[in-house]
Amino acid sequence: MLRPSTPADPSARPAPDLLAPAAATAAGPHRWWRDAVIYQVYVRSFQDSDGNGIGDLAGVRTRLPYLKRLGVDGIWLNPFYTSPQHDHGYDVADYCSVDPRMGTLDDFDRLAEDCRLLGLKLILDIVPNHCSSEHPWFREALQAAPGSSERALFHFADGRGERGEEPPNNWRAMFGGPAWSRVREADGTWGQWYLHLFTPEQPDLNWRRPEVAAEFERILRFWLDRGADGFRIDVAAGLHKHPDLPDSPDPDADERTRDSVNPLAWNQPEVHQVWRHWRAICEEYTARDGRDRLLVGEASVPTAAEQAAYLRPDELHQAFFFHLLHAPWDAAHFHRVIDDAVRDIATTGSTVTWVLNNHDQVRTTTRFAAGDPVRGAARARAAALLMLALPGAAYLYQGEELGLPEVDDLPDEVLTDPIYHRTGSRTGIRDGCRIPLPWSGPQPPFGFGPHDGPQPWLPQPAYFAAHTAERALTDTASSWHLYREALHLRRVLPQLGEGPLRWLEAPPGVLAFTRGDGLLCAVNFGDQAAPAPVDGEPLLASGPCPAGTLPPATAAWWMRAAITPPGASV
Ligand code: NOJ
Repeated sequence: MLRPSTPADPSARPAPDLLAPAAATAAGPHRWWRDAVIYQVYVRSFQDSDGNGIGDLAGVRTRLPYLKRLGVDGIWLNPFYTSPQHDHGYDVADYCSVDPRMGTLDDFDRLAEDCRLLGLKLILDIVPNHCSSEHPWFREALQAAPGSSERALFHFADGRGERGEEPPNNWRAMFGGPAWSRVREADGTWGQWYLHLFTPEQPDLNWRRPEVAAEFERILRFWLDRGADGFRIDVAAGLHKHPDLPDSPDPDADERTRDSVNPLAWNQPEVHQVWRHWRAICEEYTARDGRDRLLVGEASVPTAAEQAAYLRPDELHQAFFFHLLHAPWDAAHFHRVIDDAVRDIATTGSTVTWVLNNHDQVRTTTRFAAGDPVRGAARARAAALLMLALPGAAYLYQGEELGLPEVDDLPDEVLTDPIYHRTGSRTGIRDGCRIPLPWSGPQPPFGFGPHDGPQPWLPQPAYFAAHTAERALTDTASSWHLYREALHLRRVLPQLGEGPLRWLEAPPGVLAFTRGDGLLCAVNFGDQAAPAPVDGEPLLASGPCPAGTLPPATAAWWMRAAITPPGASV
């Protein structure tokens, strides 16, 4: 039996007012990003066109038809700027250039032009919290004296202890070790310390200095002028630190949780001025050429309600909603995070930005059932179909459409993640989700780069042969076809994308909801088959659905014709 859940069931309340889009937005013009599906391209691992073992912009360009065919609305490119690659591009030495290993500015221009011709939005990754220790500003700061204007662009401070031998405070870095490193002064003696919330090669910029804001305005304009449709903002809840840099009551919280929880280092009120300024720059470009730009933040803050503060109408357009990505395979958990997100974000006038996979997390295929690839793959497909039925925008991470698992048996000697090298532990390391994509053929490099070139920067396992794009395209039961069909339906069905979501009562372990008045999505999180919520053939299902049942680890969409009117049992 399946009927709209009543307010008497608080865990399944429909909250219709909050679930509807904000009135101001509903009345305004449709803005593409509100329900877009963006494909995240981890450039290093996408396509190597010049045979150096590392993916590049020209390689991305050759695969745009593949992405267009998949049906995404745009792409987000992970950082491709000149960088010593200590954190694979999140340590930027020159923000207005392309790393020579990944191409040239001409390659970027050609890529941007092809995206425009194909109608794909182009989102760049911008890293404002920290730069590379090889950035000219930091090199100058090292040469300059304590107290100089060069050092003021970073967080330099004298150490504690008699000879300044202790760090200025007790903060720990996200990727392990203290958040401070000590420098040698010009005369060769040990001197001041500088702050880095990540690795020592990523010194934090001091956003209380106007030069920093001015430089990032220049960088934004540089890429907007070259055709970018927007920016994914790294560490968007960072930037400002407590002005006194006091000790933290729980110094290793960030490292322990691998999340931005130190209240003195993150989520400071001043950061909102930056987003207002950046939003005004975007609006200026939109007013000039009518093309809507997007700022999507990696604003990792504890609750959806806190995240909403970043999404006020004059701040970021969107922020990734990571609670879904952190949710275990559990119906009640998914229900709760979806409810929270939709309720809290709707009040801002923005839309939720759903994400299940990215370049920092264990892939869903493995995460949802470690050690059981068949079950993991089924759950990952079901979760994807659920996500693509939710109101708002969604981000896909390269390879999830191929059902790629996490590669969790890489030998120690090939691991590149600074988390591994700084902590000595494999916990939370990210190499396994960044393996170069398998495109075609029976053996490495699977079309990622030329056969006669060097091996890809991370080794691909032999079993990737079963996951190549070439195979997926010819197998209509593949994840690729599931994603393509779901994306197609999102485009043609007005019920999907933005709009209300209404929960239905469902058996334990099953989530069911309607979108608009025409589409029903149900997901069976359990290990036993459940009764199908409605009769009739699903419009789309993540796995085989024998008549009348919703098998375990399966999601399906049905259309209105099969749905009994609200209030009646079905
Ligand atoms: C978040 C990025 O997603 C991650 O890959 C990076 O290491 C950190 N920010 C530091 O920039």
